[in-house]
Amino acid sequence: MLQGKSIVLGVSGGIAVYKAVELLRLLTKAGADVHIIMTKNAQEFVAPLTFQTLSGNPVNTDLFNLYQEQEIGHIALADRADLFILVPATANLIGKIAQGLADDLLTTSVMATKSPVLIVPAMNTNMYENPIYQRNEKYLAEQGYHILEPVSGSLACGWNGKGKLPDPEVIFTAVESMLTPKDLLGCQILVTAGPTREEIDPVRYVSNYSSGKMGFAIAKVAQQRGAQVLLVSGPTCLTVPVGVHCIPVCSAEEMRAAVLEHYDNTDVVIKAAAVADYRSADRSVQKMKKTADRLSLNLERNPDILAELGQKKAGQILVGFAAETERLLAHAAEKLEKKNLDIIVANNVTDPGAGFDTDTNIVRLLHADGRVESLEKMSKQMVAQQLLNRVAMLWKVKGR
Ligand code: PMT
Repeated sequence: MLQGKSIVLGVSGGIAVYKAVELLRLLTKAGADVHIIMTKNAQEFVAPLTFQTLSGNPVNTDLFNLYQEQEIGHIALADRADLFILVPATANLIGKIAQGLADDLLTTSVMATKSPVLIVPAMNTNMYENPIYQRNEKYLAEQGYHILEPVSGSLACGWNGKGKLPDPEVIFTAVESMLTPKDLLGCQILVTAGPTREEIDPVRYVSNYSSGKMGFAIAKVAQQRGAQVLLVSGPTCLTVPVGVHCIPVCSAEEMRAAVLEHYDNTDVVIKAAAVADYRSADRSVQKMKKTADRLSLNLERNPDILAELGQKKAGQILVGFAAETERLLAHAAEKLEKKNLDIIVANNVTDPGAGFDTDTNIVRLLHADGRVESLEKMSKQMVAQQLLNRVAMLWKVKGR
């Protein structure tokens, strides 16, 4: 998503400068071309060489440095940005921008840029709460600057309160979101993720290896593309993406109830969850004791949630996943038809780099009109992008 994007990262002087280094690493790893401008004070905290090494670009520090001006120039920097981010942004920097001051390279470039600007403040909590600072921040927000609010926590100055820079991952997500076209604006998408757990007794369950990564990636990307996303997730260790509403569930029955409750108000359902097909027929209320050498579990079928959605379909776009270990296309095609789906995403979960608990996936997309597309191995986030490209097209065709 950030591949080839030009980002100007403006760094002003605060203890949180070290977090801007980590953010820079995330941005360059994602393929962004990052140009750094540091204020004089920022250089007191971290040397420009660190930023230069990680960005692969010269760090810009002076408005009147002839070499830098000849090579890049403050207007050229302002012009080339797809996005301008200020991390950390001090009260002083925000105050200067709000007053229209341009007395160094960073403030001059911010004033000259036509690109969106994301400001991520960090400061002492009393400074943050100061009405003068609050007025400046509010004014900039009214002028169209994007503000990612600081979080609460224990601050380097010893105070505890609001003023802490959000984690670099959170800032990175905000950057991704700002650079993503909103082609799913107005679309209600329900995504299921993770495994379900079917209890045998209070301490044991039947489940599978799903980590939730595939479903969470879809939820995150859909939200970034402007959709209203409801995530119904079985137990996972993952953090719910910013802006996504999550209903945590445990069993298939709970997942079914949550999904059906919201189905009528949904435009698109994407079922990436690995729902357990069977549950214990006689769940024991107490922990089962080991007595005999052998134990047989009596299992009964769980409801097939997706098949039920297919039967009740009233204009929704339905996307299923097929986790297979053999005859991938044949099994997936059967599910596509049986469950009345628009698309099924087929993955052979025994392929290295595909399926359960990996960061990548290798999928085939089978469409209701008979088309089959093979995607190469890619990150689950990229699979989500590719899938949502197809979903966005279907949604447009349906007249939204
Ligand atoms: O979570 P990860 O670790 O990232 O792993 C990703 C994944 C392997 C779980 C994902 O890529 C995937 O394949 N999800 C579907 C797993 C699955 O249950 O496949 P299935 O072929 O058994 O089911 C077909 C479809 O019916 C699925 O969309 C499933 O959600 C749905 N289903 C299945 C059974 C059931 N009782 N109710 C359902 O709704």
